[in-house]
Amino acid sequence: MNDVATIVRPLLEWYDTNKRNLAWRENPTPYHVWISEIMLQQTRVEAVKGYYERFLAQLPDIEHLAYVEEERLLKLWEGLGYYNRARNLKKAAILIVKEYKGNMPASYEQLIKLPGIGTYTAGAIASIAFGISVPAVDGNVLRVITRVTANEADITLEQTKRNMTAELTKIMPKTRAGAFNQALMDLGAMVCIPNGEPKCTICPLASQCKAYLENKTDKIPYKTPKKARTIEEKTLIVINREGRVLLHKRPEKGLLAGMYEIPSILGFQTKENVLSYVKELGLKPIFIEALPDSKHIFTHKEWRMKAYFVKADDLATNTNITDTKMQYVFVTPEMTEDAYPIPSAFSAYEQFLKLPVNEFSKNQSL
Ligand code: ADE
Ligand code: SF4
Repeated sequence: MNDVATIVRPLLEWYDTNKRNLAWRENPTPYHVWISEIMLQQTRVEAVKGYYERFLAQLPDIEHLAYVEEERLLKLWEGLGYYNRARNLKKAAILIVKEYKGNMPASYEQLIKLPGIGTYTAGAIASIAFGISVPAVDGNVLRVITRVTANEADITLEQTKRNMTAELTKIMPKTRAGAFNQALMDLGAMVCIPNGEPKCTICPLASQCKAYLENKTDKIPYKTPKKARTIEEKTLIVINREGRVLLHKRPEKGLLAGMYEIPSILGFQTKENVLSYVKELGLKPIFIEALPDSKHIFTHKEWRMKAYFVKADDLATNTNITDTKMQYVFVTPEMTEDAYPIPSAFSAYEQFLKLPVNEFSKNQSL
């Protein structure tokens, strides 16, 4: 793929007349580049501008960042989201003060070891602030490079990103590495745009862009379609006996592995079916009442939940539950706060795990 080397000159020339005026480009110190790149990971360039100015006005250098109170830092970050990114900034700043006398290390290998700094950010700081000849591959760069080379690999795969990084490494200019990387970013943001038709007729790479020449810009970059979520309907049963609630331990593998949950039956069930289930557990239901429906969305699955509250007779001791190798336990409300944390998928029912039984209407008795 060494013919891609021919993109370097037209890109740099295009950048020199078309680059965006961005505050962090005026004085690209390692600190400025670092802060801007972390902010830009989650937010559009336009939205970052204000945050960037305010952040630097209050925390003008690495020492300020290292010693800032967390609360004040998070306040400065408010609205940008992903608060761990702000916390990692401070952690890294403390390390830089301790281990590098307050100066960011001028090495890709050392940068990437700092908290919150991955391959992209290390590449961006190394190239833009230190002029080190390494790529910085973000989504914009991936799009441009896969199009120029008509590479139909799935860009959601880490392997594709590694391959593109390797190809770019071969053609990185020895000088102006930062300009080259930012030229790719700007081209990806302004010409080879993410949503909508790329503006190939004004693109400096058009004459050598394989996707354009082969009419494939609608196919590249290629992403495997997201799988639709499977929908699972279930009926939860909050069973209360002597002020304790019955929990079930999930299997050690798979979704919410090993966590405790509200017992459930697959599908939407009638009161009668729910009562049979409770009896099969060896419990004696005294009353039953429907609880509100809810849903929870996981990455690959969606739970739609119906639920019932069931009061079981305190005195019925002959239960099957204790025989089932601790898959089931009756716990007090306090125990659900530490020993048996309930996954947030069930948060709609948390209040019913803790409710004193007499809050339920007695006229619902069986
Ligand atoms: N997006 C993220 N970092 C950028 C940079 N340095 N220039 C342009 N766009 C960017
Ligand atoms: Fe993107 Fe079109 Fe330029 Fe190719 S020619 S890099 S598809 S804008």
